[in-house]
Amino acid sequence: MAENRSSFKGKIGFVLAAAGSAVGLGNIWRFPYLAAKYGGGIFLLVYIALAVTFGFSLMVAEIAIGRKTGLSPIGAFRSLDRRFTFVGVLGALVPAIILPYYSVIGGWVMKYMLGFVTGSAHEMANGTYFNSYIGETGEPLVWFLTFIAITAVVVLFGVQKGIEKVSKVMMPVLVLLTVFISIYTICTMDGAVEGVWYYIKPDFSKFSIMTVVAAMGQLFYSMSLAMGIMITFGSYMKKEISIEKSTRQIELFDTGIAFLAGLMIVPAVYAFSGGDEAALGQGPGLMFVTLPKIFEVMPGGAVIGAAFFIMVFLAALTSAISLMETVVSVLQDKFKLDRKLSCLCVLGICLLLGVPSSFGYSVWSEVKILGMQLLDFFDFASNSVLMPIIALATSIFVGYVLKPKALIEEVELGCEFKWKRLFSVVIRYVAPVCILVILVSSVLGAFGVIKI
Ligand code: TRP
Repeated sequence: MAENRSSFKGKIGFVLAAAGSAVGLGNIWRFPYLAAKYGGGIFLLVYIALAVTFGFSLMVAEIAIGRKTGLSPIGAFRSLDRRFTFVGVLGALVPAIILPYYSVIGGWVMKYMLGFVTGSAHEMANGTYFNSYIGETGEPLVWFLTFIAITAVVVLFGVQKGIEKVSKVMMPVLVLLTVFISIYTICTMDGAVEGVWYYIKPDFSKFSIMTVVAAMGQLFYSMSLAMGIMITFGSYMKKEISIEKSTRQIELFDTGIAFLAGLMIVPAVYAFSGGDEAALGQGPGLMFVTLPKIFEVMPGGAVIGAAFFIMVFLAALTSAISLMETVVSVLQDKFKLDRKLSCLCVLGICLLLGVPSSFGYSVWSEVKILGMQLLDFFDFASNSVLMPIIALATSIFVGYVLKPKALIEEVELGCEFKWKRLFSVVIRYVAPVCILVILVSSVLGAFGVIKI
């Protein structure tokens, strides 16, 4: 294992990227459309409740496993108990499923970025623009290919550091812009205040098991859990650093940005549509339909819109880079491929899964798997099936094989572990039961036995 490890060495940038890239399309694009679709406030409440209990425990567990073993995910599980090596392997599959469709969305973002920069903001504000755009075959494909090509070039030539520096400077600007856009919408748009209530006030009649399924999938996705990323991150963490504090900071930051993105988008859709369920539940296109409409009525909206999409593009790019880097590293380590060949393989996977995801809105719109559009299907397969399986296996492993005590000791090498009781209880009892229920519901939901 020590040799495998050496190929990671000197690539501390990768780890920093993994931590920094928790913020990405998951926060800005995915969270708002789920919150709008699953009843607003109730989704937010369930999400936060899961984040502070379940997300917290799982993140601490993953970081501690990484730090304790000092190994990458597959090696870490293998060294602790051979029977659980499969958890590491499954984890390595997740980024390979996410990256292709992530890049399709990245392509949409690029199209909007360029549209705003070149002054076609007005066209994009038309409510039908987005659907007719993704309904085309060629252009979305070209943008998808461009996005994935940029990502591959960065990974291949190892210029991540430069991009990350730019993106670090841009992040605070993105946050400020998000706050500004939210305030503007709420203050000027009729019906937006009601929209804010829809977003923050839980309506328990809208609660269903699917709210929890969606919130938990989002939690994994947004915090890059249940895919080995945090194990890798932990493997580079110094023993004196507090795992508990770091986890809280990552969670707070990540949830904060998701909340703001929702605040910018959900009340606005509510206002534009008068609270219409179809508009709120439209799914992946939500951000692309709603934001241009806001920019259209905002003074200086074209410039603000351009700036906004540039920043979203950067956030998406840094996430895509570390997703690709993760898959490339696994191929390098496990199959002893050289870097170029690994990159090529990853590009192959991206084409194989990404092209259908893109065509799923145009020429292949008739093709549905379990009633889902192809992009939605890949998203569902990773976030609602594969990641819960990994999280379930991780919690059973930590709770009953390794025992929470082993990881608590690891955490306490740094500082006192204040929430260790919560950690043990969640990992041993709450997590396995909840995840099992969720897994069964999402599978039943997919097969149409219960309503998604
Ligand atoms: N968390 C990222 C987001 O919110 C997406 C993501 C999932 C990711 N897994 C990752 C990013 C692994 C980098 C590495 O958009």
